[in-house]
Amino acid sequence: MPRLAILISGHGSNLQAFIDACASGKLLANISLVISNKPDAAGLQRAARSGIPHICINHKDYASREQFDAALVNALQAHDADLVILAGFMRILTPVLIEPYLGRLMNIHPSLLPKYPGLRTHQRALDAGDKEAGATVHFVTAELDGGPPIVQARVPVAQGDTAKSLAERVTMQEHAIFPLAAQWFLEGRVALRGTKATLDGAVIPATGIVAETDCPAG
Ligand code: GAR
Repeated sequence: MPRLAILISGHGSNLQAFIDACASGKLLANISLVISNKPDAAGLQRAARSGIPHICINHKDYASREQFDAALVNALQAHDADLVILAGFMRILTPVLIEPYLGRLMNIHPSLLPKYPGLRTHQRALDAGDKEAGATVHFVTAELDGGPPIVQARVPVAQGDTAKSLAERVTMQEHAIFPLAAQWFLEGRVALRGTKATLDGAVIPATGIVAETDCPAG
């Protein structure tokens, strides 16, 4: 069975989606390791409840981003991870981690990339008057939130939406598309080829594969 490592910083609802997808057989993989950079991340308890090896590598214990990333690489190599999943991992990565895992490193970002890299994505979409928001699974490259998209879920913005209400609906879609992208990868359907992501050998458009949602607008 392929081995996943999942990196988190907080709540871990995407981690839970991976745990559930593995349990139901939608995702044919073992989660061999969960790493949090925060000792109090609730996601660590989710890993514990499911009997998944979990550790905290606290970024505050390292003098530089590079040293922190080297500690992550050591742990990932010790657990022989085939695919590394950034599930709400709120650290900027350096080439120390990205290079050895290039093409095997996926992130989810709560916006319709290339719109709104960085933070406060839902508030920025609301402030701009966008009609839809969403989330994007992408391969991680050196550019922050800039690696090629794999799959994107679009969620209509409802009248009266707040960043919180919008985030709740987007997060539900994240839980569907992230394990799906991982399964495609493990089946050999999705790959990073140079600077592009491909599905079944064809270049995926810049929006990613668009997952149609039946999520009502409010
Ligand atoms: C998710 O919404 C994810 O898209 C976002 O953090 C949240 C983590 O939630 N990631 C980023 O903002 C990365 N730039 P979770 O801990 O419940 O999975």
